[in-house]
Amino acid sequence: MIRINESYTRLQSTYLFSNIARKVTAFQESAPDKDVIKLGIGDVTRALPESVVNAFKTAVDEMASDDTFRGYGPEQGYDFLRDAIAQADFNARGAEIDASEIFVSDGAKCDTGNFQELFAQDLVVAVPDPVYPVYVDTNVMAGRTKTWTDGRYEGLVYLDSTEANGFVPPPPGESVDLIYLCFPNNPTGATATKSQLSEWVRYAREHRALILFDAAYEAFIRDDDLPHSIYEIEGAREVAIEFRSYSKTAGFTGTRCAYTVVPRDCVAYDESGKAHSLHDMWNRRQTTKFNGVSYPVQRAAAAVYSAEGRRQTRALTDYYLENARLIRTTTERIGLPTVGGENSPYLWIKTGTDSWSFFDRLLEEAGVVCTPGSGFGRCGEGYIRLSAFNSRRNVQTALERIESVLA
Ligand SMILES: Cc1ncc(COP(=O)(O)O)c(C=O)c1O
Repeated sequence: MIRINESYTRLQSTYLFSNIARKVTAFQESAPDKDVIKLGIGDVTRALPESVVNAFKTAVDEMASDDTFRGYGPEQGYDFLRDAIAQADFNARGAEIDASEIFVSDGAKCDTGNFQELFAQDLVVAVPDPVYPVYVDTNVMAGRTKTWTDGRYEGLVYLDSTEANGFVPPPPGESVDLIYLCFPNNPTGATATKSQLSEWVRYAREHRALILFDAAYEAFIRDDDLPHSIYEIEGAREVAIEFRSYSKTAGFTGTRCAYTVVPRDCVAYDESGKAHSLHDMWNRRQTTKFNGVSYPVQRAAAAVYSAEGRRQTRALTDYYLENARLIRTTTERIGLPTVGGENSPYLWIKTGTDSWSFFDRLLEEAGVVCTPGSGFGRCGEGYIRLSAFNSRRNVQTALERIESVLA
């Protein structure tokens, strides 16, 4: 008899996005003449930059001729992309990362989800609350959690991100092994300073722990004092893995390209206390289970680093950041405390009511869809997330409606 992985039965359906979709459909059926603007989505809306499209097309043409056709590429990614990444994203910022430490992939979702495979079952895992759900659910699937009680899994350590700590949790008093951090944060839009990240690096070194640092929104950082990479922090090479993605940076959500940095200095220990290279283990894992990202997509990603590509991708993120600035100006004018939106495409807004009541009010009275904060964890109750991923016109219309309802 074929048996299931019982851990899957422990997964809670968050119902978040299906609940939102259901409510939006019901509203549209009851008020067919009202148009609805979605400021809840985490997907980009603007086209790929021109230089990216050109590189993409040229590479497709190469695939159309026997002379330039490419079959399987290196599982870790082509050198032309790994070299560009190491140079532009790390070395240019004073972070010592070698091209051989970059693993190109088809998404930060799979990489952040898969990386936990390298570790023991009885690991103590710490996740932020509110959280990008992939970190939690992949550990549930792996069997690292027990029952679900009061909106949390027993067996996980939750790092409360609250108004009191500026939505940047400090290291816990207890000892944990694997720590998920995400800055600029989804969903709160909060960013971490060098000194805050230094505290985490110090903690990880002291406890022989590992930080999985998700920097999927790095391209939205504008404040010169904020670190773009955890490797800007001294000592991080031994205790941190970093995940990046072209999804939000360059509009690749439907094109799929990302990468993970696994420094050669990162180790984890076996039962006898012997250290094993995580670089070697991840390489083994990827070469066994993954066959690389398509050649045209990697050429498209490499175009992000050309002079034109930099200018165009910067313009893309600037566009969303201007949307975010408009949202923030409006919510603050109305008197709703807001974080994020300055170095991030997300805004985290304190509603003064519970998250779903505020969601209903915004939908029914303003025709605007947000994401209820409670869907991201217990600490998200009383907040909503607004996203800057939409057209300027839709954002402006949504804000006029929100202001007329709430002001
Ligand atoms: C924090 C965070 N990490 C990773 C991802 C996934 O990125 P990708 O499109 O590269 O899989 C997302 C996408 O929403 C995200 O919000």
